Amino acid sequence: MITIFLVWGIVVAVCCYLWPIFGIRKRKMGEPPLENGLIPYLGCALQFGANPLEFLRENQRKHGHVFTCKLVGKYVHFITNPLSYHKVLCHGKYFDWKKFHFATSAKAFGHRSIDPNDGNTTENINDTFIKTLQGNALNSLTESMMENLQLTMRPPVFSNSKISAWVTEGMYSFCYRVMFEAGYLTLFGRDLTRQDAQRTHILNNLDNFKQFDKVFPALAAGLPIHLFKTAHNAREKLAESLRHENLQKRNHISELVSLRMFLNDTVSTFDDLEKAKTHLAILWASQANTIPATFWSLLQMIRNPDAMKAATEEVNKTLESAGQKISFEGSPICLNQMQLNNLPVLDSIIKESLRLSSASLNIRTAKEDFTLHLEGGSYSIRKDDIIALYPQLMHLDPEIYPDPLTFKYDRYLDENGKTKTTFYSNGLKLKYYYMPFGSGATICPGRLFAVHEIKQFLILMLSYFELELVESHAKCPPLDQSRAGLGILPPLNDIEFKYKFKHL
Ligand code: HEM
Repeated sequence: MITIFLVWGIVVAVCCYLWPIFGIRKRKMGEPPLENGLIPYLGCALQFGANPLEFLRENQRKHGHVFTCKLVGKYVHFITNPLSYHKVLCHGKYFDWKKFHFATSAKAFGHRSIDPNDGNTTENINDTFIKTLQGNALNSLTESMMENLQLTMRPPVFSNSKISAWVTEGMYSFCYRVMFEAGYLTLFGRDLTRQDAQRTHILNNLDNFKQFDKVFPALAAGLPIHLFKTAHNAREKLAESLRHENLQKRNHISELVSLRMFLNDTVSTFDDLEKAKTHLAILWASQANTIPATFWSLLQMIRNPDAMKAATEEVNKTLESAGQKISFEGSPICLNQMQLNNLPVLDSIIKESLRLSSASLNIRTAKEDFTLHLEGGSYSIRKDDIIALYPQLMHLDPEIYPDPLTFKYDRYLDENGKTKTTFYSNGLKLKYYYMPFGSGATICPGRLFAVHEIKQFLILMLSYFELELVESHAKCPPLDQSRAGLGILPPLNDIEFKYKFKHL
């Protein structure tokens, strides 16, 4: 036993001695300032993970707008000047944006690589996303979501006692339940043979989804799912329910899912379970950000009487001019894409809520050594290094957004009440000023659908319910920073609200 400790002691001592000589990267001429961090391999990962915004602000103060940090064995070049964002995106030919995304998806969801270069499939998944989430496909997704939201929200059998009763519930749990159920039905269709069991099935999946999603930050950071037994079980159960034999019993499956179910992919080596795991990846992408985004939009609207008044007026006017009557028993409310696009107040409320809660990390891997030309300088970048944008720095920059931590419902409205698109940094108009959905080649393909879903949810909440916070002056819950880098941060704690059906 003592010998084993002795051998390990010597190995560790030798590593510590050699680390400064061979393990630490030296900054070369023309490269950005470098922070190696103090911990071998991890580099600055712990400080970054504890509070990314503060960590990046501190390095910005120390090094300026461009600097490199070692994070979990990788060298990451942070570009923090929003005036340089469009210049970064101009270097697309040097970037591999797929490598990191495909590897993360495979690790987290448990399928093999979906990169056609790896020979497991011929599907160009990015083309599939665009074809099935935008253009004509967006019409049917939006229509189906509006129906499913009403199926989920409206009382199944209408009675007067239901009208008059206030219900108190956590707002985040409410948004989670409603958006998960309606979103699930929209993507994976309805099971018409067992309608009564359908809700139980979806609520079961919701529980499993929560268990799995809880460990997602750890999976994205590279930890194996086998370390998390409950989450692993939950993932396998979710995948099981998305197997072909289970999906084919369902009707109105979205094109996004059905196209991939019946894809004529001649070299696909994926078995049924692996295909189901790629459906699970889509389920996660469609829900993980939309749910907290919906929560923040509803909470900020309810907390702000001016926002509530302006939104209610806009919704009433739109429903009236679309000839839509709000009722519990009649046909569900239906608005087309043009009508949904023409809601600048709701747009501004949603944008402002996402500005305050989004913390995504946009990354690209360098395919080769190259020179990155930016506003105010050029930098040498090495092959396999990562270029990263962290738009939260811009979203909370007081020069671009005065009083940046305050929710202003009309921040994205101009003096004519139309969508405002002019924001400045250093006296110059910004091309990129709002980026919760990422940018360039990796921009979220579901962003148009996501905004429609949230608008539909807000429209229905305002139309069917009376809404109140239990504590009218309740503070906004803090953001859960453990998910920084992944998108919209959820609240650290829930907040209670009351709702009851309106007398219509
Ligand atoms: C408020 C809601 C949403 C937000 C904030 C959001 C944000 C994002 C972000 C930041 C990315 C990664 C971009 C990057 O790596 O640079 C992404 C990717 C993605 N999103 Fe969304 N998203 C939302 C909703 C949705 C919805 C509703 C869907 C689909 C129904 C969706 C589908 C996807 C897919 C498939 C990808 C991966 C694209 C790829 O790897 O090629 N998202 N999203």
